[in-house]
Amino acid sequence: MQAGYFIPSFFYLAIMKLTYLTICFLLFGFALQAQTTQPYYKNGVVVCAQPEAAKVGVAILKKGGNAVDAAVAVQFALAVVYPVAGNIGGGGFMVYRSGKGKTATLDFREKAPKLASRDMYLDSAGNPITKMSIYGHMAVGVPGSVAGMVKAHARYGKLSWRKVVQPALDLAAKGYVLSARHAAEFNRNKATLLKYNPLGTALVKDIAWKEGDTLIQPELARTLKRIRDHGRYGFYNGPVADSLVKEMNRGRGIVTKTDLKNYQAVWRKPVTAKYKGYGIITMPSPSSGGICLVQLLHSVAPYPLGRWGFNADSTVQLIVEAERRVYADRSKYLGDPDFYKVPDKTLLSIAYQKQRMSTFTWDKATPSSEVAPGKIPGREDEETTHFSIVDKHGNAVAITTTLNNSYGSFVFVKGAGFLLNDEMDDFSAKAGSPNMYGLIGGKANAIAPNKRMLSAMTPTILTKNGKLFMVVGTPGGSTIITSVFQTILNVVDFKKSIQDAVTVPRFHSQWLPDQVDVEKTALTDQVKQILTQKGYKITPRGSIGRVDAILKTKKGYQGGADPRGEDVSMGY
Ligand code: GLY
Repeated sequence: MQAGYFIPSFFYLAIMKLTYLTICFLLFGFALQAQTTQPYYKNGVVVCAQPEAAKVGVAILKKGGNAVDAAVAVQFALAVVYPVAGNIGGGGFMVYRSGKGKTATLDFREKAPKLASRDMYLDSAGNPITKMSIYGHMAVGVPGSVAGMVKAHARYGKLSWRKVVQPALDLAAKGYVLSARHAAEFNRNKATLLKYNPLGTALVKDIAWKEGDTLIQPELARTLKRIRDHGRYGFYNGPVADSLVKEMNRGRGIVTKTDLKNYQAVWRKPVTAKYKGYGIITMPSPSSGGICLVQLLHSVAPYPLGRWGFNADSTVQLIVEAERRVYADRSKYLGDPDFYKVPDKTLLSIAYQKQRMSTFTWDKATPSSEVAPGKIPGREDEETTHFSIVDKHGNAVAITTTLNNSYGSFVFVKGAGFLLNDEMDDFSAKAGSPNMYGLIGGKANAIAPNKRMLSAMTPTILTKNGKLFMVVGTPGGSTIITSVFQTILNVVDFKKSIQDAVTVPRFHSQWLPDQVDVEKTALTDQVKQILTQKGYKITPRGSIGRVDAILKTKKGYQGGADPRGEDVSMGY
């Protein structure tokens, strides 16, 4: 379909919609009924990766806690019941909007240790030793999550700190029941967990885990008790810090006591923009997420996506061409703003984006090689986690938090029971060499002592007529930005319900490698054929992201929990 020339008939649209719904049903195994019967909540809602953590969040809201209290409780609970990505040994970002419209963004991203250096992951020939920044002690950045939660709670929390940390402590001490998926994941990762933790961890036992087993984590419970009783001091100083540094020494890692003591989370000025009348509030650098999201929205804003239709060939082509240009910019211009002058004003301007899109033609794909060269890397798990929370006063929190890929560095802090991140891989180890997500960087994201590595995490809040409209975010490495982008389009342009917007299949493109990754059912055969003829390389892949979102409707809040995981939406 050529841009703007073809309006699909009602009949065609109806068939397409039915096909997508049927495919979703087959793929994700939940009833079509669920698409239309999502409950509305008046008082508050939590959407996150695990039911036990969602329950904790809702209980905090019911006790009179606000969205930030619930968010802190959920962050700690996920560190217990979702060890693959929930964390106290990682970092993340929070986007906040109060019911009265005040906004804030909190950066609790990890930092490079002081002993880090630009070429620390290069061999003697100057080539990246990739695994070194992904597995083991050298991959670890200074964790930011505990400092972030303390800072968020100190500014906005209503309930006591003890009250918001306690539920996670209980889950660690008393245990929680494993789902089949978690049991299988622990079993699958047993060898790697043992490799990096020869003395054992709570996630490893002699016989295989099975669904219904209870996981008790006494060491983690002790650490959470210290955090509950001593706040940030309980993590960055004292016995927990001692254990962390001892662990570093055991594996020749470089995080020191001084790194821990000096770590600070930072309030940053939100990135804000407009898209088709909706207000966008999102994360600034050192995440690339917010800037790239706004660039993508600006790129497609002049076009009638709603008329073309969801994943129609024109829609996909336009989006891919926008993504190609935005990810090329990302590789050059984005990094830690405390170390590198990010040209955010230009990148966020509508005029700049118009000029970037001016080289796009409908006849054929713009080869990425004409933009810049690159190589195709292998792919690792893209685990991170996102949660969205709204309370009865309309305060909204979007937090995306991560250890980087699944189980981070795989290193548990012996005696303290938590996993450490492998966030150092989000730096550019060598200019032009891809990291595990295939992302390329240069000077802006080069390693330096105490610098924050560039992220793609995109926690985002939307407003409509000056009121809260939507809260959204997702894990997924480099696909985070494009998944958040597509979910927003699904709601704003394609008028989908929040559950449909989260559920429908996605695709992803990122300049390099020059290909369009598609979930199995994302594109019809006809669309694939048209795009292939124009020179797009369509590459099937597994699931992309796990979006957890909330929409404010006239009847109340509605959650959209991603069926790609065990994600749930709970409220009251
Ligand atoms: N570690 C994934 C990200 O921050 O983008």
